[in-house]
Amino acid sequence: MAQAQAQPNIALVKYWGKRHGARNLPAVGSLSVTLESLWTRTEVEFDPDLPEDLFLLNGVPDPKGLVRVSRCLDPIRQRASCLHRARIQSRNNFPTSAGLASSASGFAALVTAAIAALCLEVSPEERSEWARGASGSAPRSLYGGFVELRLQETPAPGRTELVPLADPGHWPLEVAVAITSLSAKPVGSTAGMEITAKTSPFYEDWIRAQPADLEAARQAVLARDFEKLALVSEHSCLKMHGLALAAKPGLMYWNGATVSCLTVIRDLRAQGIPVFFTIDAGPQVKAVCEPGASQQVAGILRQIPGVLEVMTSRLGPGARVISGAGKSQPSGP
Ligand code: DP6
Repeated sequence: MAQAQAQPNIALVKYWGKRHGARNLPAVGSLSVTLESLWTRTEVEFDPDLPEDLFLLNGVPDPKGLVRVSRCLDPIRQRASCLHRARIQSRNNFPTSAGLASSASGFAALVTAAIAALCLEVSPEERSEWARGASGSAPRSLYGGFVELRLQETPAPGRTELVPLADPGHWPLEVAVAITSLSAKPVGSTAGMEITAKTSPFYEDWIRAQPADLEAARQAVLARDFEKLALVSEHSCLKMHGLALAAKPGLMYWNGATVSCLTVIRDLRAQGIPVFFTIDAGPQVKAVCEPGASQQVAGILRQIPGVLEVMTSRLGPGARVISGAGKSQPSGP
């Protein structure tokens, strides 16, 4: 048995679209920041007496989630030659399936806990591949701070490389998350990507432009150039949602309050407050701020009609074991 904690990550250069074929391989690389104060804690216990895997999310059995959880555990069990089923208990301190990257923190915590529970010695590549197989954004939560998931084209396409670009201390940005709805999103990321890839007229252009966006974001992070990071991140976000809106049927993840937040954040930046927005597959708005600016930004976002709650976070560490078998082996820097 082991318990691990992971935090959601927020993509600044977005992953949207998969390559054809199995193994959940992204069609594009992506770059994110890992948060600190939102978390998933997952306990995995392999039990020879269990006939089936059991999965509880926030204390409630989750049969839909169980399918993905079992599928994620299977290659780890295989690697350990373990035939036992597992009891998995996971808790989030933030809304699930509402565009707050709960699948990223969830699968990063699950993989980390399972490896520890089975006392497996694994390479960072194996760990990252297992997380990616479950959810394309999950490997990025294995590391803290600024993280890139790169596509490897040589010697042959078909793998990803997880690159920790910089620790939180390199540039202690802050994030204010404006919650505008607590409902689960109507179309999940996996289905949304599939519809977009099949029907959006802009999809090929999106794939082609991604390496340039990644390079700009990488440079901005390393140089701590906020304006440059703001421009490329907002561009990547709006482009992703533009693609999705142009799919058939069009995918609209935003509500009125989402749009109000975007307008306010752009106005604030024009007034000299260092903040930019990004939005994932849901209506919540993430306002990324220079160190020290998030409380002021959060206070302003709270005044917007339709904003239910604003949480703030610094950048945080990667997934790690918090109790049980492999406690002495942290997963990432
Ligand atoms: C908009 O990682 O949830 O948040 O691989 O199908 O599980 P699956 O998708 P998921 O998609 C994340 C999409 C995004 C952008 C991002 O995090 O890069």
